[in-house]
Amino acid sequence: MSSHGPPIPMTSHACGPLQGRAEVPGDKSISHRSLILGALSVGETKISGLLEGQDVLDTAKAMRAFGAEVIDLGDGNWSVHGVGVGGFAEPENVIDCGNSGTGVRLIMGAMATSPITATFTGDASLNGRPMARVTDPLAEFGCQTVGRKGGRLPMTLVGAADPVPVRYVVPVPSAQVKSAVLFAGLNAPGKTVVIEKEATRDHTERMLAGFGAEITTEITDEGRVITLTGRPELKPQTIDVPRDPSSAAFPVCAALIVPGSDVLVPGIGLNPTRAGLFTTLREMGADLTYQNEREEGGEPVADLRAKFSPDMIGIEVPAERSASMIDEYPVLSVVASFAKGKTYMPGVKELRVKESDRIDAMAVGLRANGIEVDEGPDWWAVHGLGQSNVKGGATCASHLDHRIAMSFMILGMAATDPVSVDDGGPIATSFPIFEGLMGGLGADVRRDT
Ligand code: S3P
Repeated sequence: MSSHGPPIPMTSHACGPLQGRAEVPGDKSISHRSLILGALSVGETKISGLLEGQDVLDTAKAMRAFGAEVIDLGDGNWSVHGVGVGGFAEPENVIDCGNSGTGVRLIMGAMATSPITATFTGDASLNGRPMARVTDPLAEFGCQTVGRKGGRLPMTLVGAADPVPVRYVVPVPSAQVKSAVLFAGLNAPGKTVVIEKEATRDHTERMLAGFGAEITTEITDEGRVITLTGRPELKPQTIDVPRDPSSAAFPVCAALIVPGSDVLVPGIGLNPTRAGLFTTLREMGADLTYQNEREEGGEPVADLRAKFSPDMIGIEVPAERSASMIDEYPVLSVVASFAKGKTYMPGVKELRVKESDRIDAMAVGLRANGIEVDEGPDWWAVHGLGQSNVKGGATCASHLDHRIAMSFMILGMAATDPVSVDDGGPIATSFPIFEGLMGGLGADVRRDT
């Protein structure tokens, strides 16, 4: 089992206005997919703006283990010489995906229809997360799996020597499951069909089309019906990874709650399957504008400008929006603490099986900082105290979860008393420059000595 090293306790103190430009790193979802699809192409894929967080570095290492040549050229520029669909070699050793559910689930899909065996593991967080949601559909292709009780890692997959295509209705709203099935479908002859009732992030569909696969999406009464024709020759691409809206969420939300702030977060992807948080914040009365709206690499992009918003109000976040902001609920709950009234967030069962149980992790930490939170199996509600009434002062557990650690650091920037986390180490999985970037805007986040 991997671990990220000794805990790094951190404390965030109330700070003056946050001001300036926040250039957040590349999109995590697109970074994982760029490396995997590059590895499944024939020839050289060139990637710029790759997120060099630990999650993505673990995927790069895994692609090397499956036989691709993956070269770090420096400054976010990477080159991948792929082995082609069906060309994965059998890894000589266990594949350690660290903290990354996206990494392990997508890679399992990508190898499941090749006649090779691979064993996967991760850190304590990843080894506690459910994998049956991916291995169940992979079994339909002919892939065999042996794992721990409850379908947990470490787990060995024996890829199908004679894969058959699959028609699969995804039972939970999960882009990782959808993507694992589509990646497995690449090396199955004929058409693999994936049906999702709720739209989840669609980077896999867009990128597969970009790499030359035959893939269509139809909206029907059943939901989104995605049809992929197997055994394509994927053509290498040049990819400029857009900046991550899930990372942009942190400087944006901080600016909304720290008095006097005015922050520009340039070049953020506003793909509708990812932008739910920004819509929600605007509905709460946030002074958040989209500037210089444009299209880059087929994705809508804008510069986000967030200003201090003392009069935000609690709202009900529509359940059907949850997939488009699933990673942003922790930091939304922090903003909701500074709004007036209740923010009710239904339809979020999936939050309980992320890097941590995110409802529980945030509820316990917010309560310790003086905020009332109610919760049920698939909903939660934060009772906002209004600007300048949040006490803070507690140390919160981050549960090996980067977004929990960063959310409590944002809380400390606007609470009366400092807020601490027991371990900020996991922040490096998705946002390795978080401390420096927030410090550059005027935040006071310190590692405890
Ligand atoms: C991701 C999908 C989401 C999200 C994760 C990234 C992806 O997970 O939470 O951070 O890149 O496909 P689920 O598929 O579990 O919803």
